[in-house]
Amino acid sequence: MITRRTLMAAAGLAMGGLAAVPAFAQETVKVGLILPMTGPFASTGRQVEAGVKAYMALNGDTVAGKKIEVVLRDDGGVADQTRRIAQELVVNDGAKILMGFGLTPLAMSVAPVLNQAKIPAIITSATTSAIMPQSQYYVRTSMGGPQSAVPVATWAVQNNLKKVVTLVSDYGPGIDIEQGFTNQFKKDGGTIVEAIRVPLANPDFAPFLQRVRDAKPDAVFAFVPAGIGAQFMKQYVDRGLADAGIKLIATGDVTDDDLLNGMGPAAKGVITGHFYSTLHDSPENKAFVAQVKKASNNMRPNFMSVGGYDAMTLAYMALKKTNGDTDGTKLIEAMKGATWTSPRGPITIDPATRDIIQDIYMREVKEVNGELYNVEFATFPKIKDPNAK
Ligand code: PHB
Repeated sequence: MITRRTLMAAAGLAMGGLAAVPAFAQETVKVGLILPMTGPFASTGRQVEAGVKAYMALNGDTVAGKKIEVVLRDDGGVADQTRRIAQELVVNDGAKILMGFGLTPLAMSVAPVLNQAKIPAIITSATTSAIMPQSQYYVRTSMGGPQSAVPVATWAVQNNLKKVVTLVSDYGPGIDIEQGFTNQFKKDGGTIVEAIRVPLANPDFAPFLQRVRDAKPDAVFAFVPAGIGAQFMKQYVDRGLADAGIKLIATGDVTDDDLLNGMGPAAKGVITGHFYSTLHDSPENKAFVAQVKKASNNMRPNFMSVGGYDAMTLAYMALKKTNGDTDGTKLIEAMKGATWTSPRGPITIDPATRDIIQDIYMREVKEVNGELYNVEFATFPKIKDPNAK
């Protein structure tokens, strides 16, 4: 069951105070899901929620004898809200697991809450490497830092793209990705002509893309967070970079499956590295995509959705392992080393870092049955975040 917290529930808990918790409540485990459901990153919230719901639709709402109740709260993409909501979910609602966190600053903001309450937070979306050491209670089902960028660098040099301009959003994940790409690219013999960082908020890419054009590289390597890719793609075309023969290579955040089909033919041929494509060919993914489409008005799941689906998988696996014990330290211990086949492919939670180890796929945007997809053509297996400590 997914509920939005109601006044009734809040009043009930307030009245309960320190009195004994009613027996039925002991059988329910609350999972606090904190996402940007409004604002510029609302597509992330919508996608993660769809993934969480898909898991429960396919696997039921009880595990280890406990009923799972997901309490969804909107932080609007504002870190102060994320932290306040996390506190409320733990203190007032009695949430035993938190999950979500659509952007790096939102994930970062809850570290003190986790450290005090000693409960796990499963990161479905944010990717900056530096988040994980902030709390021993973070665990991640999105990805870690430059996991997706390193294989793109190797591919670029192998395919004779040797002079590249990097263009990334100027905050944690962009900087990690720029560094990951650059280190590998130089090691493989490539040259970075220019490194451009663009503001995260309300980005106007035009002046930056003009700089790329003037630098005349073989390719531009780009990262912008999910939700912004369509805007970037439009300006890449409008500025004439494609016509000037400057190839676009990127992390899969740019060609995210939610927005890709609306980007139009200009997106065709764009090469990206990432952990998930809607078209990934496996029985697990076919079941997942069919469920999300059925429940969400034919919406295509993207990598955010898979992050949500796998966060629920991990929560269920941990509860099964603890036999329904909701002690936060026992739950986080139970999550370490968890290994399963996700809709994205095989994954493991690294017991040393609590971060995810996963395959990264190289993909090309192609038209399949009249729609645009990221079509996987090569696999770099078992990639770890190179920054993970
Ligand atoms: C992040 O803020 O960490 C983030 C958000 C969206 C992405 C990737 C990283 O697509």
